[in-house]
Amino acid sequence: ERLPALLAAMPKAELHIHIEGSLEPEMIFALARRNGVDLPYANVEALRRAYAFTDLQSFLDIYYAGASVLLKEQDFYDMASAYLARAAMDNVVHAEIFFDPQTHTARGVAIDTVIQGLHRACVDARAELGISASLILSFLRHLSEEDAFATLEQALPWMDKFIGVGLDSSELGHPPEKFARVFARCRELGLHVVAHAGEEGPPAYIWGALDVLKAERIDHGVQAVHDAALMRRLAEERIPLTVCPLSNLKLCVFPSLAAHNLPALLEAGLVATVNSDDPAYFGGYINANFIQTFAALPILTARHAWQLAHNSFEASFAPQAEKRAWG
Ligand code: ADE
Ligand code: ZN
Repeated sequence: ERLPALLAAMPKAELHIHIEGSLEPEMIFALARRNGVDLPYANVEALRRAYAFTDLQSFLDIYYAGASVLLKEQDFYDMASAYLARAAMDNVVHAEIFFDPQTHTARGVAIDTVIQGLHRACVDARAELGISASLILSFLRHLSEEDAFATLEQALPWMDKFIGVGLDSSELGHPPEKFARVFARCRELGLHVVAHAGEEGPPAYIWGALDVLKAERIDHGVQAVHDAALMRRLAEERIPLTVCPLSNLKLCVFPSLAAHNLPALLEAGLVATVNSDDPAYFGGYINANFIQTFAALPILTARHAWQLAHNSFEASFAPQAEKRAWG
């Protein structure tokens, strides 16, 4: 079977990866030891056993606990360097990486520490691995808009080190409209804007992300299939969806990969892409997402593989010239 080899070998961009979600259990324990942080798990195996999620919130609780071991600039550097080395093995040539500053500043870690460590990893990865990487600052939607504004204020001195802002964390009960003003300010500052919407939340949250936040891409967006007018809008305006199949499976958004709606999204002409979301927690990096999804959905062919890789470059915020060179 040549399809898995093609999926693995094709150059691709990864546009939906939370760097804190790339923290493998082994690195969580190594950093806990290095920093003298106590973990409520006896060992790597016990932590892995806790990765049995029933929905988004059950995952987020463990994901935020895992991130508590990150204290020093070197910790952020080591985490991002490990992800970028792993992504390069999957033939990722460009990555746009979310980071959640509020998860760290709430614990007393300075935003400078976070951004400097992550940015240094991106610079070194370009030199050492030939991979281009950019950062997207993501606001936690379970916190207030005021808290998001304070975070933006802290990030202003580092504006040249991230290309845009996103919106993540607990979706239900936290609609995009809650962040209308802070996203307007980010757009005025010339930042790209994206938002998680329609992962667990209704199509109305995708409409809100488009109309109120003016999101240029929708992260997940798989609930759009329940709204025909929304599907037409996404197709006509070529608004990309950054789909994460293994995440959707592990967070019970779909009962199986065979039931995933990626084929329907592509059939409707949407600019869908495949991404890993939180690979250390969901059991696979980007190539595992491609290979397992194509294996479960035999309707997907080499033509779809090419389309998804092409979409990943079109959907990226890389300069036009680079996008064309990648395909
Ligand atoms: N933060 C990290 N992963 C996330 C996801 N899949 N949805 C919302 N927030 C997240
Ligand atoms: Zn995500």
